[in-house]
Amino acid sequence: MIEKIESIKSEALNEAALIKNVDTLEQFRIKFLGRKGLVHELFEGFKDVPPQEKGRTGKALNELKQVLQEIFDSKKSELETGSAAGDDTDHTLPGRTFNKGTRHLIHQAIDEITSIFAKIGFDIYEGYELEDEFHNFDALNTPDYHPSRDMQDTFYVDSAGKDKKYLLRTHTSPGQVHVMQSNKPPIRVVVPGKVYRNEEVSSRSLAVFHQVEGLYVDKDVSFRELKGTLDYFAWEFFGKGLKTRLRPSFFPFTEPSAEMDVECILCKGEGCRVCKHTGWLEILGCGMVDPNVFKAVGYDPEEYTGFAFGMGIERTLMIKHGIPDIRIFYENDIRFLKQF
Ligand code: DAH
Repeated sequence: MIEKIESIKSEALNEAALIKNVDTLEQFRIKFLGRKGLVHELFEGFKDVPPQEKGRTGKALNELKQVLQEIFDSKKSELETGSAAGDDTDHTLPGRTFNKGTRHLIHQAIDEITSIFAKIGFDIYEGYELEDEFHNFDALNTPDYHPSRDMQDTFYVDSAGKDKKYLLRTHTSPGQVHVMQSNKPPIRVVVPGKVYRNEEVSSRSLAVFHQVEGLYVDKDVSFRELKGTLDYFAWEFFGKGLKTRLRPSFFPFTEPSAEMDVECILCKGEGCRVCKHTGWLEILGCGMVDPNVFKAVGYDPEEYTGFAFGMGIERTLMIKHGIPDIRIFYENDIRFLKQF
């Protein structure tokens, strides 16, 4: 009996250390001090203790009961005053929230735009941010005297001792040239990525921004297919039924060239401040690949035709979401980023 008392005592001491809240306190009470608890059981067994041991056992038993009662009382008051040993947490405080990171809106848009084109058979090519003059300009029928080759517009990289003049690409169009140089038609590809221009930063322009280029080359590609492809894109990206139009324009690497407008998303073509009361917003440049571009990459312009297009991603998003200032994409203002 004495051994049993000792073992229950040490068990109770161990368990007392684990009392952290009212539930564990109550479990402790039921197990040791309850009406069917271990102490009660010991008292029940007391009548079978041999008479010569009754004195010693009775004393130990009473002591055990007293010790356990003291443990219970002190744990109870610790919990009531909120200072249970090893737990000084204030359980009434609101929980901490952790902000989960998400993809930046520009990258979400790149994924969305490229997958819209992937659905109709376009591959994705990344291209290079550091380019040479041939890929960025010459092969794209943009001769030496063209203003975009000016230092004012292009970031040239120190190319001393190199065989070529290097620069930061001013558009994603050189991606077309790389793809054609290393593949044979038919080609269907989109080239998303960063581009660089030596521009004053303002609400409408940044020195580093993003574009997506598109290229389709095969036998007998028509302007009508260009229009169909771009209408499909506009409907997928901005919403079904949106009106679009092509306006004649000029780019050195396409002939004929056009710009595509979509109906102003804000005023639905009625005319407002955003569309400068025209009812239209320009979203991209496009056209049929100029024969000189085919010649530069070794394709026979008599055999192949193709179309190309290029759009600014920031601009496209500004139109879609009515964002008034391009700089906000890169200010990392969580109130802005959280909306996407
Ligand atoms: N590269 C042009 C720019 O940066 C955009 C562009 C226009 C791309 C017409 C094209 C195109 O492929 O056909 O403004």
